[in-house]
Amino acid sequence: DLSRRFVTTDDFARAARRKLPKIFADYIDGGSFSETTLRRNREGFDRYLLRQRVLHPLGPADLTTPLGTGTAALPFGPGPVGFMGLYHRDGDICVHRAATRADTPCVISTFSINGLATMKQAAGTVPDFQLYLDRDPEVNASYLDQCRATGVKRIFLTVDTAITSVRERDVRNGFRSVSRITPSLFLQFAARPAWSLSLLRGGFPEVELVAGRPEFGRGALAQAGNLSGRLDIDLTWDKVRQLRADWDGELIIKGISDPEDAARAAAEGMDGIVLSNHGGRQLDHGPATITRLKAVRAALGPDPMLFIDGGFRRGSDIVKAIALGADFVMMGRPFAWAVAAAGEPGVDHLIRLLATETAITLQLMGLTSIAELKAAGPEILLTE
Ligand code: FNR
Repeated sequence: DLSRRFVTTDDFARAARRKLPKIFADYIDGGSFSETTLRRNREGFDRYLLRQRVLHPLGPADLTTPLGTGTAALPFGPGPVGFMGLYHRDGDICVHRAATRADTPCVISTFSINGLATMKQAAGTVPDFQLYLDRDPEVNASYLDQCRATGVKRIFLTVDTAITSVRERDVRNGFRSVSRITPSLFLQFAARPAWSLSLLRGGFPEVELVAGRPEFGRGALAQAGNLSGRLDIDLTWDKVRQLRADWDGELIIKGISDPEDAARAAAEGMDGIVLSNHGGRQLDHGPATITRLKAVRAALGPDPMLFIDGGFRRGSDIVKAIALGADFVMMGRPFAWAVAAAGEPGVDHLIRLLATETAITLQLMGLTSIAELKAAGPEILLTE
């Protein structure tokens, strides 16, 4: 019974660690260097308190969230996480289908195991696409072609990874240099027979978007190493402008955390940004994203979409972000944990848990909808 096994997001985290070979559990959970920003992302939420308002008429909470020109049924959804299909068989598809069922947007990574066409076929809808620019313009053109061919509406260009940071857990595990199953990996896999049997059946998965291109190698683990080494280090506003010219759909920059960069993004005609420090996996010793939110919204202006991620685990975290000016919350690790721990039903359950927490939190604050929360703004919060 999922509802007793998984009462919080953290229950999924623990279960995922028991289910996955160490190399993947560490890849998901880890941050860069001393992991201070990873910790700070969580601690930042404690800076804001919720006002308890009572004796307001309360109906069922309405979580419908305005987003750009449309709406989402929920104020949160899965952000891009690479290699989701390694944590559970067809993991990318499971997450996208669950998000589709919940009528909330899902962003899939350039490093997804399953490609856009496969996703579309499996879920009947097309996810949003997260783009990592490759050094080879031909590879980038092929990404955009695949987006156009499947009908992708929104691209998230990730800009905080021109340099890949050091994730010390991955270094110890040799995550980026595995090209074959070494004895130590074999032992890790043997210790997780359920995962190994279901995942390795039919051979090691590949990243579909680059499969068949010899420069990326074969098998997701080899590709993991190669892909990050091939990211375009010459990532500047010129490239953003070029992409803006090449892509007719919505364009969002993911990985902005400074108000000056946010203002520039608005000036360059972006449809929005994701306020993100890559889940504490890139610059260590930077601030928690939630603590930058007010300043970033002020710099961005009221119109561009403002997504945020980094350490969101609770309904109350989501409520705080919307009050501080975010339009939508994305989550990375929680979806990886849920799919690893319990597959597609696990993802459905995670979404249900977070929706319930968000609804109850709103109601205990005397609010009945995300619209009311947005209208109330930061006034609905207290600071210690
Ligand atoms: C990521 N993230 C990420 N971002 C991106 O733009 N493309 C990607 O392929 C990935 N891959 C990825 C893998 C894993 C295992 C993690 C944990 C994260 C970053 C992700 O989109 C998001 O910014 C953070 O995960 C948000 O922080 P939380 O929710 O994980 O705390």
